[in-house]
Amino acid sequence: MFPRRFPYGCMIMKYLYRLFKKTRSCRNFDQSKPVSEEIIFSVLSLNRLLPSAMNRQELKFAYSLNKEINAEICRSHGWAGGLDIKLPYEGKEPTAYIIICHDMRLRKDFCDIDVGISAHAMALGFTELGFASCMIGSFSEKLISEILDLPGYIVPRLLLAVGAPAEKHRIVTAPSRRGDSLGSSTEYYRDSFDVHVIPKRSLGEIIISSRGGDYHSLAAGAGAVKVKEDID
Ligand SMILES: Cc1cc2nc3c(=O)[nH]c(=O)nc-3n(C[C@H](O)[C@H](O)[C@H](O)COP(=O)(O)O)c2cc1C
Repeated sequence: MFPRRFPYGCMIMKYLYRLFKKTRSCRNFDQSKPVSEEIIFSVLSLNRLLPSAMNRQELKFAYSLNKEINAEICRSHGWAGGLDIKLPYEGKEPTAYIIICHDMRLRKDFCDIDVGISAHAMALGFTELGFASCMIGSFSEKLISEILDLPGYIVPRLLLAVGAPAEKHRIVTAPSRRGDSLGSSTEYYRDSFDVHVIPKRSLGEIIISSRGGDYHSLAAGAGAVKVKEDID
């Protein structure tokens, strides 16, 4: 539940919170609801609005809606390294891929930061349009370049596997691990209903300093501002 006070209680903030919460990494997709090229264009368009270090806009994008190419890409990269099951399940492969690339002819400082900004903006866009995605970092740049026949100065940096979602996700507050200086346990897992469970650290765990404020007394209920610690 949301505390009533601003900013959590504001409608748009609530909407954003729900959109962010719904935007989970999805690894099984419904083949009967393919991604259209129109959807790809509307999501790719978000990139034109994003910040970019020195406004260099060094990212370029490739996409695939081709079944054979998607199958080749899907076989070539890693899926949920933290689980000992093979994903996606057979017949639940992504129906589209977006390949976020770096144009090496342009400046490369901060490139990875620009990649992250782009990836999440597009992930949110897909969720808003009823689709789901998964960022994929475990792939071979060389192999993806070969599959897509990319020119040498274009380097794939991150893949976005896309499709209509065919699995369920649940976020929980990460359980504490007593005596562990690295904090709570963040390993994701599948529950007995095959729901993918994703532990997220609490606000108290990720705020390490609050100078000019006082996070810890506010969290304890002091003052007018309420702190949202529950993940729902
Ligand atoms: C930079 C980056 C690379 C990732 N690479 C992979 C990957 O190769 N394979 C995969 O299945 N998930 C990958 N993920 C997804 C993460 O596993 C996922 O974000 C994490 O488990 C938390 O789940 P959530 O996105 O639903 O919050 C990647 C995520 C990020 C941000």
